[in-house]
Amino acid sequence: MNTTSKDIYILAIESSCDETAAAVVKNGREVLSNIIFSQIELHKLYGGVVPEIASRKHIEKINQVIEEALAKAQMSLRDMDAVAVTYGPGLVGPLLVGVSAAKAICFATGLPLIGVHHIEGHINANYIENRELEPPFIALVVSGGHTHLLVVKDYGEYEVIGRTRDDAAGEAFDKVARAIGLGYPGGPKIDRLAKEGNPDAIHFPRAKVEEAVYDFSFSGLKSSVLNYLNGCEMKGEAVNRADVAASFQKAVVDVLVEHALEAVEDFGFNRFAIAGGVASNSSLRDALKEACEQRNIVFYYPSPIYCTDNAAMIGTAAYYEYKKGKRSGLDLNAVPGLKLGERL
Ligand code: KG4
Ligand code: ZN
Repeated sequence: MNTTSKDIYILAIESSCDETAAAVVKNGREVLSNIIFSQIELHKLYGGVVPEIASRKHIEKINQVIEEALAKAQMSLRDMDAVAVTYGPGLVGPLLVGVSAAKAICFATGLPLIGVHHIEGHINANYIENRELEPPFIALVVSGGHTHLLVVKDYGEYEVIGRTRDDAAGEAFDKVARAIGLGYPGGPKIDRLAKEGNPDAIHFPRAKVEEAVYDFSFSGLKSSVLNYLNGCEMKGEAVNRADVAASFQKAVVDVLVEHALEAVEDFGFNRFAIAGGVASNSSLRDALKEACEQRNIVFYYPSPIYCTDNAAMIGTAAYYEYKKGKRSGLDLNAVPGLKLGERL
């Protein structure tokens, strides 16, 4: 199939954190299968991801998830044109499982290997359901480990214009959720509880970073929530958890919307996309939808299944690398702190 047809089929693998995932993607934007084994139930017991446990579970699941992805797509390795894998950033043990599996397949079959940056994958998730979306545009990536504002100049070409100085947005959601007893992962739980609360009940700070208008800082906000909770406890006052969730969420959303829209207007683009786990937050989506509508900006966002970690987004990013002729060697290694735009 790969020699007679111009269609390009990529088997993609993602294992950078606590999801073991594999997908088959056709021509970059058509997802033939997207298998995700989430380890959340396992890590819930500990209140967060335990890297060693994640690595072991990835080893147990990786072959099964790859086989399922191929079976669901009704294809075999012989039908593939390349194997793509996330090689950073992320947890080193979990990354190594995906990278080793991908390299083993390439070594055995002779298929080319394409190492993909995890955040590039998140951004590329927008191409899957929005066939008309093309660069350039502004993207906001908000996940458990990252908060980046970027210019997507072309396929595979990014300029980071803003980033968090401390906690990532998702990290702040998870820490605040833990403080009000919601458990892990906190983002979806705060999202749900906030619907029952008053977002104006408590005023939490919206931090600005001097001389870096697109940068973010969430650690002050997190401390402010913790101080509020301590204050209530010391005064013997009951905490309205829904109000705390709604007020905290509003503070995060206000800052994300303000910075993102400022960037879109400053750079003069009329297209804006969000990505990453926090991009499935209902309040953030609603606020961005409204703000973009008011300014005639076309707003793109992936379905929740393509916001949190998945391999389809890795297959999409890899397709554009494949088209440019970029390939990784079999010496590809996991790079936990891989920077955006850095190629190894
Ligand atoms: O992109 P992702 O799956 O993994 C990373 O690359 O980090 O993002 C996971 C993060 C977690 O912090 C989780 O709490 C957050 O995304 N998250 C949410 C929502 N769904 C997931 N945060 C806020 N609202 C949500 N609905
Ligand atoms: Zn992610």
